[in-house]
Amino acid sequence: MTGDDPKVFIAEEAIRRRVGELAHSISQDYAKAENLHLVGVLRGSFIFLADLSRALTIPRSVDFLAVASYGTAVAPGGPVRLITDLRTDIAGRHVLVVEDIVDTGDTLDYLMSLLALRGPASLKCCALLSKPACRKKEVRIDYMGFEIPDVWVVGYGLDDMERDRALPYIGTRSGKVTA
Ligand code: IMP
Ligand code: MG
Repeated sequence: MTGDDPKVFIAEEAIRRRVGELAHSISQDYAKAENLHLVGVLRGSFIFLADLSRALTIPRSVDFLAVASYGTAVAPGGPVRLITDLRTDIAGRHVLVVEDIVDTGDTLDYLMSLLALRGPASLKCCALLSKPACRKKEVRIDYMGFEIPDVWVVGYGLDDMERDRALPYIGTRSGKVTA
């Protein structure tokens, strides 16, 4: 820690506990599925996905895709485009999209529509964070870690122009914080 670190918004221990709870629910819900296919959305979800997948007690496989929006880092939103596609064919598979944060909902809306066209056996989403106040598109989040207000958060995979991604906790540099 240095004096310049973001303020703690969600502590490491709270994240660990919540990820464990999510993994428990997911493991129960997919207990009868032959395989759960986790689809991580790069880059923000990679740390969350690593912890979540290790806490699951059911068979699972992992793939990634990457998206970008035409918005800027601090003002996301706008048309979303696929930068890197999956390596696997998801037809007939039980797919769980793993996202870091749902803000406007544009990214998740785009991804769920895109992946649904490929004929998965089931398609659900798990997001660590959600900012309901920022929603432009109504999206369903099947498994959600924490609802947060409209603040820019960093750490645990989330970045501010590549900064602070590796912080073990979720923090913020914005002035007032009312979680
Ligand atoms: P969307 O607005 O729901 O499409 O979210 C777009 C993307 O913006 C998310 O997947 C994140 O990668 C990023 N994002 C949104 N809010 C934050 C934040 O507070 N910190 C870091 N990244 C964010
Ligand atoms: Mg993301």
